[in-house]
Parts: sequence; C-alpha cells; structure tokens
Amino acid sequence: MSQTARVIVHPEFKIGDIDPRLFGSFIEHLGRAVYGGIYEPGHPSADEQGFRTDVIDLIKELKVPIVRYPGGNFVSGYNWEDGVGPVEGRPRRLELAWRTIEPNYVGTNEFFDWAKKADTEVMMAVNLGTRGADDARNLIEYCNHPSGSLYSDMRIKHGYREPHKIKTWCLGNEMDGPWQIGSKTADEYGRLACETAKAMKWVDPTIELVACGSSGSGMPTFGAWESTVLEHTYDHVEFVSLHTYYGNRDNDLPNYLARTLDMDHFIKSVASTCDAVKARLKSKKTVHLSFDEWNVWFHSNGADAKMDPWQVAPPQLEDAYTFEDALLVGSMLITLLKNADRVKMACLAQLVNVIAPIMTANGGPAWRQTIFYPYMHASIYGRGTALDVRIQSPGYDNKDFGEVPVLDCVATVNEDAETVTIFAVNRDQSGSLNLEGDLRAFAGYTVTQHLIMESDDLKAVNTSERPNRVIPHAGGNGILCAGTLRATLPKLSWNVITLSR
Ligand code: AHR
Repeated sequence: MSQTARVIVHPEFKIGDIDPRLFGSFIEHLGRAVYGGIYEPGHPSADEQGFRTDVIDLIKELKVPIVRYPGGNFVSGYNWEDGVGPVEGRPRRLELAWRTIEPNYVGTNEFFDWAKKADTEVMMAVNLGTRGADDARNLIEYCNHPSGSLYSDMRIKHGYREPHKIKTWCLGNEMDGPWQIGSKTADEYGRLACETAKAMKWVDPTIELVACGSSGSGMPTFGAWESTVLEHTYDHVEFVSLHTYYGNRDNDLPNYLARTLDMDHFIKSVASTCDAVKARLKSKKTVHLSFDEWNVWFHSNGADAKMDPWQVAPPQLEDAYTFEDALLVGSMLITLLKNADRVKMACLAQLVNVIAPIMTANGGPAWRQTIFYPYMHASIYGRGTALDVRIQSPGYDNKDFGEVPVLDCVATVNEDAETVTIFAVNRDQSGSLNLEGDLRAFAGYTVTQHLIMESDDLKAVNTSERPNRVIPHAGGNGILCAGTLRATLPKLSWNVITLSR
C-alpha cells in the first residue's frame, strides 16, 4: 500500500537565487582524471591538443559551469612553473599526495584551453602547502595580468597573448588535514591565507577568493578552524570551503540515504560560524559557502590501498557507482539547492575517472555512470531561484538520524523560461509514494515532463560493456489539475517533474 506525501510549492517561498556555479565540478592531477581522462593523445577522439572530444561532449551534456583545478591534495606540492612553457622541457616529478609520477604534459595553459573547449570556467587553486604568497602572486600575474611584467610576458612568450582572466581562486586545499603536504594550524593558515589574498587582489582586484574550511565536519578542529581562519581572512575572502564524502560501508541503505541530514547540518553550522565572525568583527559583508568537494567515495578504497606507487596515471579512486549512490547524489543536490541562499558554489568531486560521473577506458569508450544523471538534471533544470517546498511526509527509522521523511524535495523556478521544476527522492524501501502538491500559485502551468530513475537492482552499475544499464526514463505520470499536482514516485527513485506555462 503506497503512502502519501503532501507539498506546497509557492513562488513566494524563495530560498535564494541559484548561482550557476552550484553545479561545478573538479579535475585534479590524480589517477586517470587528466591523463587517460580528459587528455589522451592517440585516442581516436583526441583533438590536435590531445584532448578527448568524446569526454568533452559528455561534459557539455552536464553543462558544467566551473571546474576546480589542479587539486585537491595535489596542489599542496605543485610548482605551477613545471606545467608551463615547452612540454619537452617539463620535469617528471614525484607526486607526493598520491605517490605517482607527474609528467606535466598538461598544465595551466592547456587546462585553460581545455576548459574553453568544454564550455566551462576554471576555478584555480594555489599551493599554500609547500609554497605561499610569493608563488601565488606570480601565478595570478601569469594568468590574469595583460602584459608588460615578468610573468605576464612569460605567458605571452608561451603563446597566450590574452590573459586567462580566471575569476575564482582557492587559497590552498584542506590545510587542516595531517595528510596534506604543509598542513597548518588554523592560526598559521589564517595568517598565510590573509597575506596571500591581499597580494593576489593587489595583482587583480576583480577576483573572488575561497578560504579553506575544514576538510570535513568530523575533523577534531571543525568549527574552531573556520572561526579562527575567518577572523584572519574575513575582509579578504568571499567564500569558505566545505568538503564531504559519504559511503555505504555498512550496506545500510536507510542510514545511507539519510546522510544528507548530516550535509545540511554541516552547511548550517558553517554558515552560523561565518555569521558569528561577522558579528564579532562588526562587518557588513556576508561570506558565502563553496562546497567545493562533495560526492560518494568508498568503493575504490580497498583497491587503492594495494596500488603500487610511482606510476603515471594509475587507476586511482575509480568508484563504480551503483543505482543507490545515484539516489544519494540526487539528495545531495537537493540539499545544495535547499541552501542556495548560502552555498553559492559547489563542485562534484570529481569529473572524469576519479570518483566521477564520467568514466573512460584507455583507448576505448567513455560512458556515463549512474550519478551522471541526477547531476545533469540538477545542472540543466536547477537554474533560477530555489523554492522552499513545505513538506508533510511519512517518515522512516534509521540508525543515526532518528525519524527521517521518506520524501526529499526542493523546487526551482526559472522565471525567464517560465518553468518550475520539482526534484524529489523517494527514500521509501517499502513502496511507491503518492505525491500531492498544492501548486495553486502556478495557475496556467502544466506538467511537461516527469523523469524517473529507478532500478530493481540497487547495486546496478553502468560499465563500458553495459553503459545504459541504469538510465532515467521519461513518462512518469505527474499531472497538474485544478492547482493540485499528483504524481507517483516509484519505490526508491529519483524524480524530476517539470511544469511549464
Ligand atoms: O577528491 C579527492 C581528494 O579528496 C582531494 O584531493 C582532497 O582535497 C580530498 O581529501
């Protein structure tokens, strides 16, 4: 017997404008993300620069607005100069974060070219692990200064007359983590980030900066870290970062699907910490959140522990995502949208091969993992304004989160396109859920699409042999009649219901 959940969707229940950068992603020099992922000279689809056009085509389907680069942990030991200038002269380095060999065939300029081809922007991270303000100011001079100085003229000599004009920059990566090369205390990092930010903005005052928050809410210094770092950097940065990865390690689906309550709590906690610092500093400025690493990550942990070191582009962090992972990723996207007033940027970590929606075989095809679809749907339809959906839903019990609503739901309204989209996950394992929506405020709208992702096999994955095993289908039964929306959300399903005027 199906249960029923009731919702009210109203244009006045605004959460906030959605910054398109909420649907960003991430490419790190790690595993086969760059080499064998976006770059594979000799591949049948490779262009004149060696970039795989089959991968670029899939990225375009995702409409990724911004891609964080080059790390990640990698950036904390990276010398950006290794990756510019003639490729023949570039060093092969021991890469200590992931214990590989970095050949530096791809660096800043090539990545910038690739981003243009993929219709995306670059979010660049600077190394605050082994390096500091001096190298960061040199890098931004190299990238963003027009000409007439040492580093801008070096870029021109390297074949790039026009500056790259990279707007969004991360001040290091996970600097609280002992695994990070050059990790720091909050005071040490806060001072360094502040001085680096000042120097970078003196070179280019138009940039936006992200200070490192904690590398996860489970870190022992979580909260205190954000507070101290922001005390040092508040006037100089626009964002503080959040990172989180989940996994169904205990094979406990009810608990796994409830993890977004933790994500929501994490976001609210960081936002409160920002505002507490704002009050202490008597500032009028609001610091926003950049959730610049989020995803499911656990399937590949065992294989990675056995990987031999010092290989070029070994298959690290290659999670094969199941259908149930796609449900959680859908809920994580809903959580980001529910917090669109404060979370202005976010990066699905990562984009190709490494914990990624897109997989490739060396010399072979590229395919879409299960998580590709909810990410694509949110990126395409989740533009405009996020609306707070008032939900009355039956609940379910689970190990860590008490009673959790079976319905997870948010809506977006795109006033230009005159569309409303409802994103919903039915977490109910026992059966389908009847959705009844009060949409009287959207007179003149009709349901134009109801996409569903469902599967009999929770552990089903897409592979190169069976790339379309788990895909969404159109043809859900959503209808809007006399202001009431009625739809059936199948048992354990991801749903996208679009209404158009
Ligand atoms: O995305 C993989 C890794 O996870 C990143 O390099 C690091 O920042 C995080 O710990």
